[in-house]
Amino acid sequence: MAKLRKLVAGNWKMNMLAADGTALAAAIAAQAREAGTPPCDLLLCPPATILRLIAETVGDTPVAVGGQDCHSAESGAYTGDISAAMLNDAGASHVILGHSERRHGLGETDATVKAKAAAALQTGLTVIICIGETEAERDGGKTLDVLSTQLAGSLPLGSTLDGSSLVIAYEPVWAIGTGRTPGEAEIAEAHTHMREVLTGYIGAVAADVRLLYGGSVKPDNAAAILALDHVDGALVGGASLDAANFMGIAQAAG
Ligand code: PGA
Repeated sequence: MAKLRKLVAGNWKMNMLAADGTALAAAIAAQAREAGTPPCDLLLCPPATILRLIAETVGDTPVAVGGQDCHSAESGAYTGDISAAMLNDAGASHVILGHSERRHGLGETDATVKAKAAAALQTGLTVIICIGETEAERDGGKTLDVLSTQLAGSLPLGSTLDGSSLVIAYEPVWAIGTGRTPGEAEIAEAHTHMREVLTGYIGAVAADVRLLYGGSVKPDNAAAILALDHVDGALVGGASLDAANFMGIAQAAG
């Protein structure tokens, strides 16, 4: 199978006000520009309040900007929510959906994630759908079943899907922000499984869908993780809040 160009995405979560966020994005954009063609695709997902500012800061450098969530409706009476078109309008090309902090913290279901993904695709955004097992599910030997179930429920199969519009992120819940990661064999097993399940749903197109690993990715473990079969990039939380760490991970993707 041809190697896909890797994607390293930073999930800033609920961090960064305008000044800090702009400085971070400017530092990343400057390093990306210096690198000429960066060794991988780069994406920053700031809070929605500064999305436009960050999009303007990275400008025409090879750094894309994305949202962290969107609503499934086009518009209407949804106080506090943000539509896919609003993200797009603010300069986003991507959106993270179904992050475990939303699934487990806010009760988002597979069906909700699927509806949001359909809306985002309709607007022309690339969707990054997050899936992953809890520690209890891993201990119970259920990891691959959980991934299958979440894929079955979250994939927007009614939409036209291709390798540029769909990204899947495998994020074990217990590895997020903890400094712990699965072993390399476990990551490879999960990613191989996701590719097989995806192929069952969308056939040959599945070969072009980037499968990211997320959960405590740092510059010192990135090279080993990114070298694994079917790992086509990383979704980075904590380490994305520092330009040197984020770009260290990006270099490891080269
Ligand atoms: P982490 O977060 O890199 O801080 O573990 C990853 C994520 O939540 O996407």
